[in-house]
Amino acid sequence: MNIILLGAPGSGKGTQAARISEKYSLVHISTGDIFRENIKNQTELGKTAKSYIDQGYLVPDEVTISMVKDRLLREDCKNGVLLDGFPRTVAQAEALEKFATIDKVIDIDVPYDLIIDRIVNRRSCLACGGTFNVKTLSDASKCPTCGQQLTQRADDNEETVTERITVYDKQTKPLVDFYSAKGVLVRVNGNQSIDDVFADVVKVIG
Ligand code: AP5
Ligand code: MG
Repeated sequence: MNIILLGAPGSGKGTQAARISEKYSLVHISTGDIFRENIKNQTELGKTAKSYIDQGYLVPDEVTISMVKDRLLREDCKNGVLLDGFPRTVAQAEALEKFATIDKVIDIDVPYDLIIDRIVNRRSCLACGGTFNVKTLSDASKCPTCGQQLTQRADDNEETVTERITVYDKQTKPLVDFYSAKGVLVRVNGNQSIDDVFADVVKVIG
């Protein structure tokens, strides 16, 4: 089973992806995480990606598509993947059709006005991959799951997230119609507790 998670920045794709990939034994592929790993390791891909990500723009299609294609061709993807943050343009979706069959596209729907608050308060753990809302932590410096240091993503500031939302609306939202027309799109209300969103996701996966 191959699943795509659609949704605006901060809609909860990464949070739900961790649970879905575990429950259904899918390989979680987050293009944002792959770019950030490359930025950390100062690779050529990372240098290219950073110049776009820091401004809230999408990394060019040709770079992103070949990166995902290489990843999907690896042996561990044979039994199913969960794509988080890809595709993000119609050109990416059309390219994906040539190298993968998609069974379901889950659109996590959250009003844009809630997103900025979620994003500026997000803290991420680079060790275990967890993300947390700083308002819910008693110690904002340490990961409550593994005890390692929490950090704030470079693109998690109000100015950049505002641009990311604009980019999402223009370039990624058209995928809702693209996948509806193919009969694989399902929508989940992302403005509920994390547990309730997950319960709805499980229902739509069926
Ligand atoms: P990416 O890393 O994919 O970022 P994004 O799409 O902007 O989404 P986020 O990771 O910010 O949010 P999320 O939906 O995962 O939410 P999360 O679960 O963390 O991409 C980053 C950049 O890389 C892009 O801007 C672009 O430049 C580039 N890029 C990536 N893919 C690309 C592609 N295909 N093509 C071109 N460029 C690409 O949750 C957010 C916060 O809310 C957390 O603190 C969480 O704890 C909290 N939260 C989650 N669920 C709930 C809930 N139900 N209630 C309350 N709080 C919640
Ligand atoms: Mg994410």
